[in-house]
Amino acid sequence: MCGIVGYVGSEPAGPIVYGGLENLDYRGYDSAGVALVEEPLTIAKRTGEVSELEVPGAPGATCGIGHTRWSTHGPPTDPNAHPHTGQTDEVAVVHNGIIENYESIKEELQEAGHDFSSDTDTEVIPHLLERELENGHDLLSGLETVVDMIEGSYAIAAVRAGHDRIVATRHESPLVVGHGDDASFLASDVTAFLDRTRDVTYLEDGDIARLEAGSVTVYRDGDVIDRDVETVEWDADAAEKGGYEHYMRKEIHEQPTALRQTLSGRVDVERGGVDLDVAFPQGYLESLEEIQLVACGTSYYASQYAAQLLEEFADVRATVDIASEYTFDGGRDPWRTLVIAVTQSGETADTLGAIRRAGGAGARTLAVTNTLGSSVTRETDDALFIRAGPEIGVAATKTFASQVTTLALLAADIGRQRGTLAATDAREVLEHLRSLPGAIQQVLDEEARVVAGAEQFVDADAFFFIGRQFGYPVALEGALKLKEIAYDHAEGFAAGELKHGPLALITDETPVLSVLTEGARPAETLNNVTEAQAREAPAVGVTDGTVETDSLDLTLEVPEIGALTPLVANVYFQLFAYHVADLQERSIDKPRNLAKSVTVE
Ligand code: F6R
Repeated sequence: MCGIVGYVGSEPAGPIVYGGLENLDYRGYDSAGVALVEEPLTIAKRTGEVSELEVPGAPGATCGIGHTRWSTHGPPTDPNAHPHTGQTDEVAVVHNGIIENYESIKEELQEAGHDFSSDTDTEVIPHLLERELENGHDLLSGLETVVDMIEGSYAIAAVRAGHDRIVATRHESPLVVGHGDDASFLASDVTAFLDRTRDVTYLEDGDIARLEAGSVTVYRDGDVIDRDVETVEWDADAAEKGGYEHYMRKEIHEQPTALRQTLSGRVDVERGGVDLDVAFPQGYLESLEEIQLVACGTSYYASQYAAQLLEEFADVRATVDIASEYTFDGGRDPWRTLVIAVTQSGETADTLGAIRRAGGAGARTLAVTNTLGSSVTRETDDALFIRAGPEIGVAATKTFASQVTTLALLAADIGRQRGTLAATDAREVLEHLRSLPGAIQQVLDEEARVVAGAEQFVDADAFFFIGRQFGYPVALEGALKLKEIAYDHAEGFAAGELKHGPLALITDETPVLSVLTEGARPAETLNNVTEAQAREAPAVGVTDGTVETDSLDLTLEVPEIGALTPLVANVYFQLFAYHVADLQERSIDKPRNLAKSVTVE
């Protein structure tokens, strides 16, 4: 998730574009840059937050684009910062999203003599655009042609030296145009220019827009079309949260988009293949004896989910350790143990300590993280990115889903390479992964039912979450969410454990929330729910219809997608925790005593 900004009008563009970037820095803060339209273009870009960027004076430039980056391809370095230019610096481009087929385009351009100066997927776009200009296109028709060549998700804005206009397009990444009196604005999100105009047009996938001072023309398949102008009523703070009251709820709702990004370009269902940017040395996976996952908190529960997938798909022993408790024990040949640090931030001191111990003892190490360039990526042999975009709410939500999904891809990939996952089984797994965003959307559409459930149980004495198999880490994660944002007592248990002690805590004031879906041994779990109901506990169950749930106080439905069904069920638990906390007016995005990144041991 990056932020794009554009302005064309009668005032100097530099300060306006810079102001827009400052408003969008929550979308990424790895690097920032601007391109101001003069002859030639004036470009400034660098790593670091927007505040570290010095925007050139260029008082005569009244058109410009800008970008704040959350890295997906290529680490946060100055050359990888946007805007990108092609061979001749005639055009500059900013991009949010992923160009899936950039490698083949880059190869073809390099063979034709193009030199590249970054590791990004984006840089192919200005090269292609320049080639189309040479072929006689203008910037608009050039972009139309380029869009036919690229695959992936993108919002793109481009400018050309000496021409006061911006052309832009989108596919599965947001882009909104703002209409001023004598000016036009462009951004990933209205927050960027809300202080200048509230009249906006949301572009749709496939639209190509041309922005000039005070006029915006939208094209589709070469024809001019009308798009509605809407007036935004939100204040700047609400707009940054996409109209939601809290980042956490926004991030819960972002999960379908985040997961599409996680999966983008990595899944080939037809072939039953997975394409990750991690290449293990020849023969390594065949000789692999064990995979150890180390993590904390939510990342630890995501790892517990993933370890089961690794054992199932890759037929390898997989263990999970709380990072602060971890000691490496890797047998006679430590290299045959792969140790995976799972950490959203990449900065968690406990996890860094654990992976250092593993690497120091001779194990091969891999980071699974959301943060390019983070400390963990410098400690490990390889890194795999979950691509969830920045997460601002302290309680992890979308990153849990993206961690499990990325690790499921890894498990399928290792399984295919070790020959333990047949192509037909892999196809089924990948189909399920591909249907995850849609399945989660179905849950989000049922939010009103969760609100009613939260209202019913908000005054409970305590909450118990139970599940088996993949439902067990989801139960633990559900309880953690409720604890951290609602400050209510909540515990997650393996469903079968309830009768070995915790059942003594059950009363008519302690709701039991359960995962009753495929991948969570629903029939056995339902027996445990019945045991709790016999002690008068109210029962809430997430079900995919495989077991009879008529006796429950609240049933929440999910579509069945194999071993990933409990991951979908988890979204109900996230919403439940959110609404219980909201009803109690808790500080949801910044719960007391907690920090987003825990950099002390
Ligand atoms: C809970 C939460 C924490 C983190 C934990 C690890 O909502 O966010 O439990 O999961 O502090 O953080 P990372 O994944 O950044 O290593």
